[in-house]
Amino acid sequence: MNKNDLTRRQFIAAASAGSLAAVTSGTIPAYANLTGKASKLAILGGNPVRKNKSWPDWPYWDKKVEDSVVKTTKSRIWCRIQSKTGTVPTLEKKFAQLIGAKFCVATGSGTQALHTCVEALGIGPGDEVITSPYTDPGTIASILSARALPVLADLDTESYQLDPDDVERKITENTRAIMPVHMMGQPCDMGRIMQIAKKHNLKVIEDAAQAHLAEYKGKKLGTIGDLGCFSFQSSKTIACGEGGAITGNDEELMDKCYTVHNHGTSRRGLTEVAGPKYRMNEFEAAVLLGQWDGIEERFERRNENAAHLTYRLKDVPGIVPQKLYEGTASGSFYLYAMTYRKEHFNNADRSKFLKAVAAEGVSLSPYIAKGLHREPWIENILKTKVYKKMYSAKRLRQYRDQIDCPNCDKVCREMVMIWASGPLLGSRSDMDDIADAIEKVYENRDKLNSI
Ligand SMILES: Cc1ncc(COP(=O)(O)O)c(C=O)c1O
Repeated sequence: MNKNDLTRRQFIAAASAGSLAAVTSGTIPAYANLTGKASKLAILGGNPVRKNKSWPDWPYWDKKVEDSVVKTTKSRIWCRIQSKTGTVPTLEKKFAQLIGAKFCVATGSGTQALHTCVEALGIGPGDEVITSPYTDPGTIASILSARALPVLADLDTESYQLDPDDVERKITENTRAIMPVHMMGQPCDMGRIMQIAKKHNLKVIEDAAQAHLAEYKGKKLGTIGDLGCFSFQSSKTIACGEGGAITGNDEELMDKCYTVHNHGTSRRGLTEVAGPKYRMNEFEAAVLLGQWDGIEERFERRNENAAHLTYRLKDVPGIVPQKLYEGTASGSFYLYAMTYRKEHFNNADRSKFLKAVAAEGVSLSPYIAKGLHREPWIENILKTKVYKKMYSAKRLRQYRDQIDCPNCDKVCREMVMIWASGPLLGSRSDMDDIADAIEKVYENRDKLNSI
């Protein structure tokens, strides 16, 4: 069977189930004959694989986006509470519809969305939330802002996602919620995570900040847990500079989210609880609505290009694309990530591999340099009055002692990625350039240590 005979969904499902090789076997020539690119490395004076070509620009912008912002400017409706039919309420309806959630509340950022959810669930001092050390600081900021304790569980080194077994090990009597982070826009092992949450009566807040439209077992990410959170920050696959959204199906809980994000003031006009002011403004929503028509098409294109890239890279020893869990139907592809195994590259350090690939005209980079378990916030919060008061000395000692996440350290050392929001909208030949550059460096691996 040829890859072109497969539909995208079948193809990704096959890749995620680890059966890609079987599906495509017989159609791919032996690796060495596939490229014939053992020519001189560009970093050593050879011709680069890719020259004078640019990647699609990101964030996305066209005349429709411009018109939408101008329309909002002229309308003088610049704040969501001025109109029930302004851009923010319209965006909330459209985003909920797009991902198959009943309700949506737009916020000023993904971090604000996550913090709103933590507060709306009544999680605060004395409570614990289990999440990943391999994420944007916004994830734990949302827990710390509520003066709750972010407990970091280690990763599955192949998917870069939370390891459900470690999540279960980290549960204490104070655990209130799990915050799985769908890294690179690919689903966590949500089947296991939801099972664990159910067994221990925990809430689930999905950090889908990178995972717009991605689908797992028939549901879009952000609709599987109790609440889902998205970011529309400039680099994301749907972007407006800074922005965020909360999604959910429980009307009462989503109403609480609205109240919390609206400085504690409910839709009924009463100031009911403590809350920050996290409202999205109408200009941000105007930018998002202006790009609406092409969102699904761009998502499909990234998935098709990613499937092609995975197909091209599958025979390169030492380059292992991010593992996808069974049930993954599609990903957001905020980043296209892979593990670099230096033992297949003449033991050359990742930095040498990256330099050589960059000289070929393709920029790959490491992503998160060190996990959040290695940042100074831990020592700093443990010294504060509120944490000392709300958690026992024994718990805080144990917390500090158990902060290690060796699998996360390994991922930080080995992972390489291409930022995909723009580049994965490129042509098939752009994808071939990425694969060709990597293959060329592999074929010249004996020269890497002389760089
Ligand atoms: C996984 C993850 N969580 C949370 C956030 C925070 O979102 P924002 O930057 O919109 O506050 C980000 C943003 O990069 C993210 O990637």
